[in-house]
Amino acid sequence: MERQLEPASNLGRRLMQRLLGRPTVAAAHREARVIAVASGKGGTGKSFVSTNLAVALHRMGRRVAVVDCDFGLGNAHLLLGVNPRHALHHLLSGEVDLAQVLVRTPFGPDLVAGGSGISGIAEFDARQFVMLARCLGEVASDHDVVILDCAAGLSTQTVLTMLGAEHVVLVTNPEIAALTDAYALVKCLARHGNGPEVHLVVNRVMVPGQGRPTFERLADVSRRFVGKTLSYLGEVTDNPNVSHRRLGQPPLIVSHEECSESKSIRSILAGLEVAVGPLLAGIPSEGVEQRLVHRLRGT
Ligand SMILES: Nc1ncnc2c1ncn2[C@@H]1O[C@H](COP(=O)(O)OP(=O)(O)OP(=O)(O)O)[C@@H](O)[C@H]1O
Ligand SMILES: [Mg+2]
Repeated sequence: MERQLEPASNLGRRLMQRLLGRPTVAAAHREARVIAVASGKGGTGKSFVSTNLAVALHRMGRRVAVVDCDFGLGNAHLLLGVNPRHALHHLLSGEVDLAQVLVRTPFGPDLVAGGSGISGIAEFDARQFVMLARCLGEVASDHDVVILDCAAGLSTQTVLTMLGAEHVVLVTNPEIAALTDAYALVKCLARHGNGPEVHLVVNRVMVPGQGRPTFERLADVSRRFVGKTLSYLGEVTDNPNVSHRRLGQPPLIVSHEECSESKSIRSILAGLEVAVGPLLAGIPSEGVEQRLVHRLRGT
């Protein structure tokens, strides 16, 4: 696994060559803030956090899009109550254009759905990744915030997706297995000295207050061993209201607006805005493609 994570991986190198070969577009237009929601271990609650943050942002009047970057087992569409005909892999294979893939969900955010049970795209090439970077840039040009709901783990394409984001919200659980994998992800991002900042959410805590000490353990190891500083966004308690949801039920922040987990989501969002500034479109210093080039080059 470690070998795949090298910043100079073959895919990364080919990708950079392709991106460098494209004419540079002056970033004079307003562009969304791009936030990746990621984890090392699977099932920590990334899609739950991504979709509920997105709805919370929409309710604050922001134009928000979720891009489900899980090319094999995306489920953000189910959580946002839509069943789109086309998904990201159709876009990356050139079958459809962005207008056909981007759909409005009943809860407000726009969505580009991920794959469902499709393995063909699980490994994609530099050309497809350039298309993904371009697509993210296009989505960003028309929203205030773009949330990338990443696949679990550290595959080359997931790492490259994270490198296209300004910030990473890392979702872990308090268990040692999830924390170990979260550390692997931090270590991987730390290899890119100019990589995204990492902000931690501790989800599914069994005892209120368990999040902060969990963060401190991970932050301490990350700072000491890989020189990466993490910030803490907060915890979400484990609640059957979340795990026992029926298909078609609205996101928690809509169905249980005042429950403690919905309050936690709003507090995490407030913390994120303190950490990274307002989640509103602005004139970016660089767009998704330029960010990727700089990070892959290490400049
Ligand atoms: N705070 C919570 N309390 C109870 N259950 C939760 C909580 N957060 C998430 N879950 C449940 O955990 C399961 C995994 O959540 P989710 O799909 O959001 O994880 P994920 O990290 O996106 O998974 P994957 O790695 O497969 O993409 C779901 O059944 C979800 O309902
Ligand atoms: Mg998910």
